[in-house]
Amino acid sequence: MKAALKTSIMLAALLATATASDARAADTTPAQQLQRFSSEAGAPGNATRGKAFFNSKHGDEWSCSSCHGAPPTATGKHASTGKSIPPLAPAFNAKAFTDSAKVDKWFRRNCKDVLSRECSAAEKADVMAYLNSLR
Ligand code: HEC
Repeated sequence: MKAALKTSIMLAALLATATASDARAADTTPAQQLQRFSSEAGAPGNATRGKAFFNSKHGDEWSCSSCHGAPPTATGKHASTGKSIPPLAPAFNAKAFTDSAKVDKWFRRNCKDVLSRECSAAEKADVMAYLNSLR
């Protein structure tokens, strides 16, 4: 194979990989996530309920705000490791809620940490409505 052709095939492969990972990294928006959970729940998210949920310890040790802050508009601090956490409210963090796999992963993990169960679609819709309302 001619060197030039080989190079252009390699370039094309590289470009394809870059495009695929970009698409994965930014495949959604905070508004789409609110819509998604609201339609799964069959009712629109409610910011007031979301705020109460976010700040409640649900009878255990941690609330969402233990790590993300109250309100979650600044850099948070992990309640056990002390590691910093980028702001959760989308108006304060352009990357928040732009990757649906990340949204699902962390909702699952954090809800289990705080409530010892997964959050319902209605609870996620309420949290999204609250986070999207922060300015
Ligand atoms: C023990 C600490 C801790 C607690 C408590 C916690 N979180 Fe998190 N959360 C994190 C960390 C760490 C991340 C990842 C941040 C990053 O890398 O962007 C995260 C990320 C998230 C994300 C992903 C955001 C995105 O941009 O996609 C969501 C959603 C989330 N948390 C919701 C919650 C909710 C809801 C609660 C309460 C039920 C909660 N968290 C409680 C530590 C915590």
